[in-house]
Amino acid sequence: MPLDILVGAQWGDEGKGRITDLLAAQADVVARYSGGDNAGHSVTVDGRLFKLHLIPSGILQTHASCVLGHGMVLNPVTLVEEIDSLASAGVEVSPRRLAVSLAAHVITPAHRALDGAEERARTGPALGTTGRGIGPTYADKASRLGLRAEAMNDPDEFAILVRAHAERAARLLETFYGLPAPDPDDSARSYRELALRLRPFLADTTGLLADALAAGKTILAEGAQGILLDLDHGTYPYVTSSSATAGGALSGLGVGPRHVRRVIGVAKSFQTRVGAGPFPTELSGHTADALRGSGSQPWDEFGTTTGRPRRVGWLDGVLLRYASRLNGLTDLAVTKLDILGQLPALRLCTAYQRQGIRHPDLPGLPSMLEDFAPEYEESASWPQDVSGVREYDALPREARSYLERIEALLGVPIRWISVGPERPQVVVREAVG
Ligand code: IMP
Repeated sequence: MPLDILVGAQWGDEGKGRITDLLAAQADVVARYSGGDNAGHSVTVDGRLFKLHLIPSGILQTHASCVLGHGMVLNPVTLVEEIDSLASAGVEVSPRRLAVSLAAHVITPAHRALDGAEERARTGPALGTTGRGIGPTYADKASRLGLRAEAMNDPDEFAILVRAHAERAARLLETFYGLPAPDPDDSARSYRELALRLRPFLADTTGLLADALAAGKTILAEGAQGILLDLDHGTYPYVTSSSATAGGALSGLGVGPRHVRRVIGVAKSFQTRVGAGPFPTELSGHTADALRGSGSQPWDEFGTTTGRPRRVGWLDGVLLRYASRLNGLTDLAVTKLDILGQLPALRLCTAYQRQGIRHPDLPGLPSMLEDFAPEYEESASWPQDVSGVREYDALPREARSYLERIEALLGVPIRWISVGPERPQVVVREAVG
């Protein structure tokens, strides 16, 4: 009856999809608990690349079923597109394999328009949102003005609600922001059709998960974004609008804490971020270019959802310790070790400095990060290509030292190390720790 929770331990894009795909091989149900189509998970199976925004990457494990939980915000257009594109790639996406929470909130075209309008109207620097309407949809949810997926059970009634919502948003867009608004009739018409498509997938997902746990099944909760983008615990205001922590998994799925077996953090072997906000270990120049890649490969550091080049930097051990503390990490997965090894030498941030004082832990809120300078430990890199390595002991000594230094900083064992984008390119160390 266990629940394993997988969280992003950085600013998102840690390679969670890849590790979910791996762990889903042993899970019966894979469930997403927060965010919406702002997320983008890339998984390569037998040379075929799947880019998923809403449906958990567990869908690619044919024995597993998937849940989109209460804590999510759903764009029905994206969801239907994703169902269709998986189906055309031969992946079964039937109501038997995918359940959508009745309580998830629905993103409308007006929410997306408001996202852009609010970004442009900000007094401070833009947040660099993904433009998917995430913030306005969660704002409507908190204001008790939102549209829940349950309304799709009656497509005609849903169309009326969508029109009313679009008309209210149109007044705001036109009058307050002076911008054109999506046509309420168009939105109502297209969302009625989408409701007809999605209605069979709607379910009481908390009941479904409770039954699965009672039957001794294993649930894997798949996080989206990362802890540093969490609405409460991230680098506010440069965050997303949902709860990306392990705690968010419990409320976003409606499962009690006693079921939790493991909390698995996924961290890239270096640091990346898209959008604005503080980033103490950020790099520019040749090293940044080498880590980012040219964009010619799907695993290069360009956003899966927006295509924006990601900001890159050295791994930040202080923030990783913060992520570990907040989530109660029991295990860590480290991704893209093969990419890090391309550099001539490595740096790892092990503490911050401010006014001559050393801070091994974050002394305050992550929103204060701009005040701190990173302190680095330098180490040698490894000249060997590690993409073919499958055993921990076969990794170069320098790579093992780097990983073991991270383990020592966190006090958490590293159990999975990805060394390439393909399914088998991973070193598994279940026995460590
Ligand atoms: P929003 O979630 O679209 O409102 O964007 C808020 C911030 O979170 C922006 O800096 C986005 O770039 C970032 N963000 C949202 N989702 C992801 C993700 O899946 N990966 C990385 N960054 C994300």
